[in-house]
Amino acid sequence: MTIFGMRRREGNASSTQIAVPSTYFQKHPSVPHLRDQNEYRDLYQKSIENPSEFWSSMATSCLKWDIPFDRVHHGSFDHGDHGWFLGGKLNACYNCVDRHALESPDKLAMLYERDDPEGAPQKITPGCTKGDIVTIYLPNIPEAVVSMLACARIGAVHSVVFAGFSAPSLRDRVDDARSKVLITVDESVRGGKVIQMKNIVEDALTGDEGRKVQCPGLRKVRTSGGMKNVPSGRVIVSQCSSLRRVRKMFCAGDVGWITCHSYLVYTPLVLGITTVVFEGTPTYPSYDRFWQILDRCKASHFYAAPTALRMIRKMRPNGSSIPLERLRVNASIGEPLASNVWQWCYEVFGRKEAHVLDTYFQTETGCHAFSPLAGVTPTKPGTVALPFFGFKPALIDPDSGREIEGDESRGLLVFKQPWPGIARTVWGDHARYLKTYFGGHSGYFTTGDSAYRDRDGCYCILGRVDDVVNVSGHRLSTAEIESTLLDHGAFAEVAVVGIDDQLTGQAISVRLPQEPGRGGQKGARTISKTAYRGNYWSLCSTQEVFLVSDLPKTRSGKIMRRLLRKMLEGERHELGDTSTLLHPAVLSNIIDEVNEQA
Ligand code: PRX
Repeated sequence: MTIFGMRRREGNASSTQIAVPSTYFQKHPSVPHLRDQNEYRDLYQKSIENPSEFWSSMATSCLKWDIPFDRVHHGSFDHGDHGWFLGGKLNACYNCVDRHALESPDKLAMLYERDDPEGAPQKITPGCTKGDIVTIYLPNIPEAVVSMLACARIGAVHSVVFAGFSAPSLRDRVDDARSKVLITVDESVRGGKVIQMKNIVEDALTGDEGRKVQCPGLRKVRTSGGMKNVPSGRVIVSQCSSLRRVRKMFCAGDVGWITCHSYLVYTPLVLGITTVVFEGTPTYPSYDRFWQILDRCKASHFYAAPTALRMIRKMRPNGSSIPLERLRVNASIGEPLASNVWQWCYEVFGRKEAHVLDTYFQTETGCHAFSPLAGVTPTKPGTVALPFFGFKPALIDPDSGREIEGDESRGLLVFKQPWPGIARTVWGDHARYLKTYFGGHSGYFTTGDSAYRDRDGCYCILGRVDDVVNVSGHRLSTAEIESTLLDHGAFAEVAVVGIDDQLTGQAISVRLPQEPGRGGQKGARTISKTAYRGNYWSLCSTQEVFLVSDLPKTRSGKIMRRLLRKMLEGERHELGDTSTLLHPAVLSNIIDEVNEQA
């Protein structure tokens, strides 16, 4: 195989920085906390050089403590024994709810958008009560947030399970967490379809044969009828009148995802920002749904996964006529936001009026590790910009284990010092925690992602380390190849996996969801070859291209390339854990479609 290098654009990162749109400041009277990029750099430097002082000042200015802490941080990566704000005591629920309610009792905490768009948004002033280790198996409804806050109030641990998980997946999670209480509803509605959640819970508790008792540790199950017994505080639900001019954030994910723990529940509520809870799907009853919600709720901040944005871009390439009077931040998370999708978000979705941010974090970081700062720093399409406060990134050479100095370099993304949101253990398996995050390269927290640092110090996430194709000794990230294909503009979704190849070690296999009028598999092959060649390499002689009706994705929008690889390697009956799949039926469809086209 010949690989000839041409103009190489790492991860499809753009070389130009795009300034904060001037409309940002016209859409809301509030101004960002920082003036400009220089102030960001100064503050960032402080957060790295003197983290104790930095975090102490943040913790005291943003939170109300019952007992002040006497030490900011303790522990090391080598021992994996981090503790933060030692000696201090606070109540997360009090910080989210009570202190704002005491200051301004009428302030909206939540806006609830039902699956059914005909129902007006509801406004909620929440309250909550106590539990133990509590599994919350609820759809995106206000009660999910109230239940989380109720746990936080009494110091219980909440384990939120995606409402789309099946009975065995729910059972595994209840058992794994050794949960004593489970909160659910009789039924939920998503995309117009009713889901009998209580029946799923019953299946989880009785086992497949309907006889054996499962989840022996579980003592209580609350369904909709019993829900009112759980939050004992005031849960006032009433129809909206007018919506006041406050900051409102619409985080369009599932509450079981870390993104929503951090950016639908705790961050907006701690900061006194109204949070929009959306029960439905972006496509029901039409592809305009996100615009409708942003308009109806007058949201200033929008946060979504690239997969949803790509789908809407495909179906509404010219956007929508629905006005977005207040939208000034349009952020994405979870996967790379390819440059052309970024451009569409900026020009079409937000009409050049909103600041488009590609943010990066992980369940284990708890909060953003990289992001442009809304209204403050410029953005660079295809990159996640600069590190967030307290995150000191480095790139490691996977072979030598040494740090790679200088810009315009790529390697394994690690962090060199801890931050308050760092995961502190793997529940019930601390040894696994130490091995996974600190075992590979001593003295570093390993993210499991590879990244590229450009000449401005901006980072571009190239994908999980295991999502790498090795063709004739050339390591290529699947995200990079997918980005190239997406950039060509012919496809809305692409998945690339490496398959064993006698000649080259691995070859590239491409999956493209079917699109009418593209000339079928042959047309797709031609387009993808052209896209490759037009960019930087030719790997086409053993490349496979398949058109499929859908890709296997998790509910948070991540493509499960591992499953595609296994299917191609003939391990169709040993796919491993598929419980996080959004549509499990997609697997058999793909197998049929690949068989037809092979
Ligand atoms: O591979 C990175 C990818 O998502 C992983 C974290 O997934 P999870 O723990 O489910 O949390 C998702 C939401 C925080 C990362 O290791 N990822 C996240 N953001 C980006 C990303 N990949 C590329 N670009 C991003 N902006």
